[in-house]
Formats: sequence, C-alpha cells, structure tokens
Amino acid sequence: MRFTLLSLLPVALAVPATVLDRAVKPVYWLLAGDSTTAPAGGWGDAFLSTTVAKGSSGHNYGHSGASTKSFRAGGDWKKVIGDIGTHKKDYRVYVTIQFGHNDQKPTSGVSLADYKTNLGNFVNEVTAAGGIPILVTPLTRRTFNKSTKKVVENLSNERTTTIAVADEKKARFIDLNRASTDYVNAIGEKAITPYNLGGTDRTHVSPWGGVVFSRLVSDLLVAKYPGEFEEVTQKNATLSALIKAGKPA
Ligand SMILES: *[C@@H]1O[C@H](CO)[C@@H](O)[C@H](O)[C@H]1NC(C)=O
Ligand SMILES: *[C@@H]1O[C@H](CO)[C@@H](O)[C@H](O)[C@H]1NC(C)=O
Ligand SMILES: *[C@@H]1O[C@H](CO)[C@@H](O)[C@H](O)[C@H]1NC(C)=O
Repeated sequence: MRFTLLSLLPVALAVPATVLDRAVKPVYWLLAGDSTTAPAGGWGDAFLSTTVAKGSSGHNYGHSGASTKSFRAGGDWKKVIGDIGTHKKDYRVYVTIQFGHNDQKPTSGVSLADYKTNLGNFVNEVTAAGGIPILVTPLTRRTFNKSTKKVVENLSNERTTTIAVADEKKARFIDLNRASTDYVNAIGEKAITPYNLGGTDRTHVSPWGGVVFSRLVSDLLVAKYPGEFEEVTQKNATLSALIKAGKPA
C-alpha cells in the first residue's frame, strides 16, 4: 500500500490535541497541600528544584497548617485554579493534591466524609479549569511504635479515603503514604533522624529529607505514568536506587 503525504494528513489531524500536547509541552507543577508539601518543612520545594527537568517548572502552594477546608477558605485554592488558566497554554498543568495531617486533627472541623468531599471537589475543579489532578496519599509521620519498632500508621484512614476518591473520579493518584511508610520502616528509626526537621520533628522534613522524599514522589510518578513524566524528570539514579533498595540516602 502506498501513502501520499496528503492521505496521511487527515490521520495526523485526527490525533486528539491532548495526545499531541503530551509529546511537546513541558509540565507546570502546582503543588497543593499542607506543611509536608510547603517550603521549609515539606517535599515541595525540593521536588521543583531537584526532580523537574529544564523547561518544566512550577509553584509550591503547600501551606503550613492547611486542611482541605482551610486551604480553600484561606484563598490558596483560588490561586491554584487561577494559575492553571495562566499556564495551560504553554504547559501541561498538573496539580498534586496532598492533605490529611491537619484534616485528621479533632479541631480541624473536617470529618473523614468532609475530607472525601473536599478532595473530590478539588479534583473536579482542576479538571474543569484545564489542569490534570494527581491525588497524593499523605506522607507518613515518622513516629515509631516502641514495641513493634514499626512506624505508627496514623494516616491510614486518610490514605484509604484519598485512594477511594481517585477510584471514584477515575483520577490519577500515587500512594506516597504506603511508599514512605515502607521506606521509613526499611531504614529504621535511627537512620531517619537526618530527614527530621530539627532532628526531632517527625512530621516535617529537613532540607535533605525534602530531597529524599521528593525523589520518592517523583519516582512514583514516573513509575506509574512514564509516558507523561519520564521526559520531564531530572533523574538521580543513585538516590532512586537507594530508596528502592530501602537503604538510607
Ligand atoms: C504499638 O503496637 C502494639 C502491638 O501491636 C499495639 O498494641 C499498640 O497499640 C501500638 N501503639 C501505637 C501507638 O500504635
Ligand atoms: C497521629 O500522630 C500525631 C503525631 O504523633 C498525633 O499528634 C496524633 O494524635 C495522631 N492522630 C491519630 C488519629 O492517630
Ligand atoms: C543524587 O543522590 C546522591 C545520593 O543520595 C546525592 O549524594 C547527590 O547529592 C544527588 N545529586 C543531586 C544532583 O541531587
């Protein structure tokens, strides 16, 4: 069978714009979350500075103390949605959504059902604005159970709920809670000290902890969605290998 350029043209034009976009456009990352994503204590800044390849970019909207409720009430969410509009022409805009550490507090005014509803609304609104939401199960705290010597899994309800929202909305998600719990258990309580903020804060991360956990986030994204993220990721094979092997980095 012979093809002329003209006979191929309609086929090329029939490829959906989003598929073509994926091959050509860099990514703009909008990071929505609490202090475990935020600058000074979270993984977000290191994600942008050490895992994002040249040409791609982003903004860390992580906010210390934020729950799914206060992130909207305080105006951060509006900025995220506004930024999708600003950047979607030149970039594929992805929004990571990671909450739970403050929602889980009895004083947050957010029940587990509210948490689910709020996450679902975030997903809907990102999609409606022309961005692509990625739900992220909450980074584990690094408190160990003295008798079992294992991490206390006190965000397991938030993890399950986040995944349930992703399933219902058919949205992308990565299971950072599981992966970070497994990694922290593998290296043990002593070896995690350099990742703790100030050495003793087992929720927030030091700058180096940010580099390590943001690499974990990046590795999960690339492993699950290679077609979307492989070519926009700045790799660190050494660090990825240590994390994968469950060795201290
Ligand atoms: C620690 O583990 C023991 C044994 O499984 C359990 O009974 C206890 O409730 C755990 N403590 C915490 C704080 O999770
Ligand atoms: C989770 O862990 C934090 C920090 O150790 C603690 O303050 C909080 O009460 C725990 N919450 C639940 C629901 O276990
Ligand atoms: C890559 O990872 C290694 C091992 O953890 C680390 O020493 C190094 O600083 C990292 N390089 C960059 C450019 O982040």
